[in-house]
Amino acid sequence: MNAQVLNETARALVAGDKGLLAMDESNPTCHKRFAKLGIPQTEAARRAWRELIVTTAGLGECISGAILYDETIRQQKKDGTPMVKALIDAGIIPGIKVDAGAIDMPAHSGEKVTEGLDGLRERLAEYVRIGARFAKWRAVITVGAGIPSRGCIQANAHALARYAAMCQEAGLVPIVEPEVLMDGAHTLERCREVTEEVLRTVFDQLCTQRVMIEGMLLKPNMVLPGLDCPKQQTVDEVAEATVNCFLRTVPAAVAGIAFLSGGQSAELASARLNAMNVRFKSRLPWALAFSFSRAIQQPALDIWQGKDANAPAAQQALLQRARCNRAARRGEYSAAMESA
Ligand code: 13P
Repeated sequence: MNAQVLNETARALVAGDKGLLAMDESNPTCHKRFAKLGIPQTEAARRAWRELIVTTAGLGECISGAILYDETIRQQKKDGTPMVKALIDAGIIPGIKVDAGAIDMPAHSGEKVTEGLDGLRERLAEYVRIGARFAKWRAVITVGAGIPSRGCIQANAHALARYAAMCQEAGLVPIVEPEVLMDGAHTLERCREVTEEVLRTVFDQLCTQRVMIEGMLLKPNMVLPGLDCPKQQTVDEVAEATVNCFLRTVPAAVAGIAFLSGGQSAELASARLNAMNVRFKSRLPWALAFSFSRAIQQPALDIWQGKDANAPAAQQALLQRARCNRAARRGEYSAAMESA
């Protein structure tokens, strides 16, 4: 493990008010999003969509790193250029999702545990050879009646820490993603309580597994009311609850926090990130950045619909979201940017 390289990569991923683009949907997830728009659920369509993303001119001004799926990191553009090279040429650091997805957890009805540790050392070595410089592992925590359980939180935190230590050994910066889901009618207060417990457990496990905290990024949920909760707090209330939760739980040594969007609308995700940076940036130990998938990709995907003729407009929409989120990092985002 080269601590300096890890720290430099982690810092580069949150430098310059940029953030990450998650484009690492597994095939089933990608197909669900394609199906809603009538896009063929084929390898060719997945490749075309990802080529559209990586060839968006100017994306590297707002996006520091892109998280790829195993299929994409091995693919080429139509002209034969590897996707990885296209990203590097655009000034974007290539990363890779390495978890194998979340399965139902035994003896824990309604809860999931993420798999993928077996054979991970060999897979990481191969991804390093292909050009990846960071990795991602997502754990899923569901909020509901009597859940999450201690067993679910502990099993997922342990796996995240084992993964993170293995990544650092391989020279890859681990992005540690414990996602408390927005699904359900729970309150913001309940999300805060669960997120705090999850983050405490995750950092306890990261330290136990000797992960170098300076050489990792945290990819958390914002602290939000459930999608079906009747009380939906204001943007400022969400910003305050989220920042306070992290101040209590996330070590100052963490190189950066890059939020997932988790099913928020693209506009709300930008507005909430912006509010956090407007109100708290000057007194936080870590950068508050983004690592969005849906909140960057979805408006562009809605325009593309699998048709070549729509590609320029889709790329414009993708760039627009990336710019809005860079502005949100600066605390300079406004609703007026949406119509610009
Ligand atoms: P969303 O921003 O769509 O939540 O996706 C982020 C991600 O990478 C999920 O693992």
